[in-house]
Amino acid sequence: MNLPSFLWLWKIAAWSMGLSILAYLMLATTGFWMFKARTSQHAPSFPLLNRGHGGMRSLHYTIGISMVSLVLLLLAIGIIGTLGHFGSLGQSSHLVAGLVVVVLVLLSAISATQISANRPWARALHLGINIILFMGFAWVSLTGWSVVQKYLP
Ligand code: HEM
Ligand code: HEM
Repeated sequence: MNLPSFLWLWKIAAWSMGLSILAYLMLATTGFWMFKARTSQHAPSFPLLNRGHGGMRSLHYTIGISMVSLVLLLLAIGIIGTLGHFGSLGQSSHLVAGLVVVVLVLLSAISATQISANRPWARALHLGINIILFMGFAWVSLTGWSVVQKYLP
């Protein structure tokens, strides 16, 4: 690759990260609504609810799949951009942060598929992984923000 600058690629990375964080916040909100719906006795009156709790669940699922896709896109951008610019990986601690986030997001999605009445631990695992994922997002954003400075004019 012989590009004048990789700046455009890191701009896509920054936007995708913003969308990922937005998706995370929406997942936390819809997850909390599902928790309330499951634990409250009387039929709750939430928004989007005419379809019942199944609607909330599929909304949560759709946003979750979007977040997983965004993180995999970010992984691809990071690897392609780094190889294109330096020819090898391992330029900073951002590599470890990126890999940790990818693993956590995949574990979160896998644990979500295991949630059921006979597997209550999967729900706790899903939540625990997602709390750690928040810190992972902060770490990958800060290290990404710091390495992107090299490319700024
Ligand atoms: C990685 C993408 C994600 C996928 C595919 C996903 C999917 C799911 C699924 C299928 C359930 C089970 C719903 C049910 O009880 O039937 C669930 C539950 C839940 N999710 Fe996620 N989720 C994701 C990310 C997140 C994130 C990032 C958060 C919060 C920060 C979150 C919070 C919750 C909560 C709180 C519940 C439990 C609701 C309850 O207690 O009934 N999820 N998720
Ligand atoms: C989930 C989010 C992200 C993942 C999984 C990820 C993944 C990666 C990976 C694996 C690399 C290769 C690192 C190396 O070998 O040294 C990389 C490089 C890079 N990423 Fe990310 N990244 C993410 C978010 C971001 C963000 C938000 C930015 C800022 C805009 C960013 C900017 C960069 C830059 C500039 C490089 C080149 C490395 C360097 O110059 O040292 N990344 N990314």
